[in-house]
Amino acid sequence: MASSSSLCLMVLVAAMASPASAQLSATFYDTSCPSALSTIRSAVTAAVNSEPRMGASLLRLHFHDCFVQGCDASVLLAGNEQNAIPNAGSLRGFSVIDSIKTQVEAVCSQTVSCADILAVAARDSVVALGGPSWTVLLGRRDSTTASEALANSDLPPPSSDLASLIGNFSNKGLDVTDMVALSGAHTIGQSQCKNFRDRIYNETNIDSNFATALQANCPRATGTGDGNLTPLDTTTPNAFDNAYYTNLLSNQGLLHSDQVLFNGGSTDNTVMNFASNPAAFSSAFATAMVKMGNISPLTGTQGQIRLSCSKVN
Ligand code: HEM
Repeated sequence: MASSSSLCLMVLVAAMASPASAQLSATFYDTSCPSALSTIRSAVTAAVNSEPRMGASLLRLHFHDCFVQGCDASVLLAGNEQNAIPNAGSLRGFSVIDSIKTQVEAVCSQTVSCADILAVAARDSVVALGGPSWTVLLGRRDSTTASEALANSDLPPPSSDLASLIGNFSNKGLDVTDMVALSGAHTIGQSQCKNFRDRIYNETNIDSNFATALQANCPRATGTGDGNLTPLDTTTPNAFDNAYYTNLLSNQGLLHSDQVLFNGGSTDNTVMNFASNPAAFSSAFATAMVKMGNISPLTGTQGQIRLSCSKVN
């Protein structure tokens, strides 16, 4: 009887430990590569100091990695996902990641995955731009495959309505608060005209002075000025703060998918909370980043540790 109850206990413990994310650990490289984190941090800080937007680009790379096959560095493989609609001509930072990988390989050969480098670089980018910090769980391994089709289906387009965004994040195990908090990443970085043109010419829930100012750099005709850039947060474009949410309160969200978070729907209260309480946003963002970083990692003997992030070994 005693042995059957201890067996039950073992099964229960094993079941509780079964999500793949349970294998990630903050101390994963403490013995195998103690200088990994400081090497990544120095390189990210230098890159962001020389070009603040790079912090935004590195944060977005981690998001686009995790939402497609999980956080497995599939987005870094040349071709494939990089050709998908949300990524082509838009994702940046690959050469910074390649350079970090070279530096990390020089201190610890074939030990630190590209997927972990992306996760740490995202955190260090946010910190470098004045945002919150969090403990990055480590031990992800790199995929040997990537999927353009999954990138097209799983990354939300800027035309998304609120229900689609909620569903899209829920499919990845992220709740509505996570979704609203992670969207606050749009407090940094820039967008191309083609992604907000429809909003600034055709939508009514937009501040009219804001729309007029944006129209000067984003012509109405499709195909003209498509790639012209505007900050996602025009008030403090290079500061990781909560201005994204105060912008939404005054109908100054840049993307359609930004303003739907404050448009009379179920997420209005969360937006108002994050707008008035920067600490609440910082805490929710950090929590949601850890959750996003836990999406379906490869661990143990799955996948590989790539030697070069842009190609399989
Ligand atoms: C909620 C759904 C989301 C949609 C529809 C969306 C869409 C977009 C679009 C269209 C752009 C502009 C791309 C371009 O014009 O080249 C962009 C930029 C950006 N996104 Fe998102 N995004 C979403 C969520 C997120 C999340 C969860 C993060 C990170 C946690 C993120 C981080 C960024 C950053 C930092 C930029 C600026 C990148 C740069 O300047 O290089 N986004 N996003």
